[in-house]
Amino acid sequence: MIQAPLSRQYSQKLEKLIPGGVNSPFRSFREVGGHTLFFCRGTGSKILDVDGNTYIDYVGAWGPSILGHAAPECVAAVYETMKKGFLFGAPHELEIELAELVQQCLPSMQKMRFVNSGTEAVMSSIRLARGVTKRDLVLMFEGCYHGHNDATLANHSDGIPEEVRNKTIHATFNNLDTVEKAFLENPGKIACVILEPVTGSMGVVVPRDGFLKGLKELCRKYGALLIFDEVLTGFRIALGGAQEYYGVRPDITCLGKALGGGMPIGAYGGSAEIMDHLMPIGKVYQAGTFSGNPMSMAGGVATLKKLMLTGVYGSIEEKANWLFGGLRNALQEIHDKTGTTAPIQIQNVGSMFSLSFCEHPITKFGDARSIDADAYAKFFHALLSRGIYFPPSSTDAACISLAHSAGDITDTIEACTGAFLEVLVS
Ligand SMILES: Cc1ncc(COP(=O)(O)O)c(C=O)c1O
Repeated sequence: MIQAPLSRQYSQKLEKLIPGGVNSPFRSFREVGGHTLFFCRGTGSKILDVDGNTYIDYVGAWGPSILGHAAPECVAAVYETMKKGFLFGAPHELEIELAELVQQCLPSMQKMRFVNSGTEAVMSSIRLARGVTKRDLVLMFEGCYHGHNDATLANHSDGIPEEVRNKTIHATFNNLDTVEKAFLENPGKIACVILEPVTGSMGVVVPRDGFLKGLKELCRKYGALLIFDEVLTGFRIALGGAQEYYGVRPDITCLGKALGGGMPIGAYGGSAEIMDHLMPIGKVYQAGTFSGNPMSMAGGVATLKKLMLTGVYGSIEEKANWLFGGLRNALQEIHDKTGTTAPIQIQNVGSMFSLSFCEHPITKFGDARSIDADAYAKFFHALLSRGIYFPPSSTDAACISLAHSAGDITDTIEACTGAFLEVLVS
């Protein structure tokens, strides 16, 4: 195990002040064991803990750090902006700039609203869908994560009233029959179908051929709106997110994470016709003191301008493919030498990937239940001690950033090979 006495001490202190010692449960090391690490610096692909250990980072702050940590262009833009005032509670020129850039990347977002997190984007888009369709029910997919709003957490948290739970129906990812069945069982009642077009919280599960297109057709047939939660996939799997990658345009898109390059942000948008149902034009209410704040806008503009440069996605994908190829070779070599077939699934789209300890590929939530969390925990710690930081959770997606270098990838393949051997052979 990594030596991190100061992190241990800080963890113990924070646990007395904040439940579980974390302000978001994802950050906790409960699943993998040991105490949570405290980080004090992030530069490019590396993060440094308070005990002086440096790691090549594949968590990327759970998605936002697509350019790497403290990308110079973001730091400069935010700094210059904040010097002029943090917040005006009134529109700001940078909102125009960011909205125009978002629209260029995702043309389905003819109009949008900036909010402060992915959760807010999802919560607001569900209210909007309900307001537009005058229907109540939300159809989502088991295993998809959409933040901590009541509607989509339904079965996963106490504190959500029964009446609210009953407004959410669950279908099976990659299975259109379960969606049509839900429509048939609830005629004229489903306001929206919401999904992560590529999932990030049950391993990286990709949509089967025709799944997204089929969803759109079902939504049209039964009068519901299709919401793509691209909080994780937006600007990650392609500049135009999953809707560009798979060629299917949703009615409403939710964004967050990479959009701000590390600054707190969310956004949702769609056609002008849909978006103009929002107040002050329409009757659907949504607001926010910090929404569209200049610093988040500046972080977003700097990030998107960089991502829009030619060759950026090619460069990230090249590194990603090199990494996945290296990991698959390592597993094959272990098999050739020891006869051990590794029960590990490497699933990815672009720079978003998961490494799941289970026998079969994951295509839906049911498959993710067979993930061996203990084996992942061993792997996680074996990697930490080799200077690699993966998500402290067996089901969450990891990310590669533009800042990861060829040397990082080589070091990661070497560390993973050692960690595979430690977990699989010892
Ligand atoms: C797909 C997806 N939607 C929504 C959210 C919630 O975003 P936030 O944590 O910014 O509220 C997340 C966060 O992990 C996410 O991955």
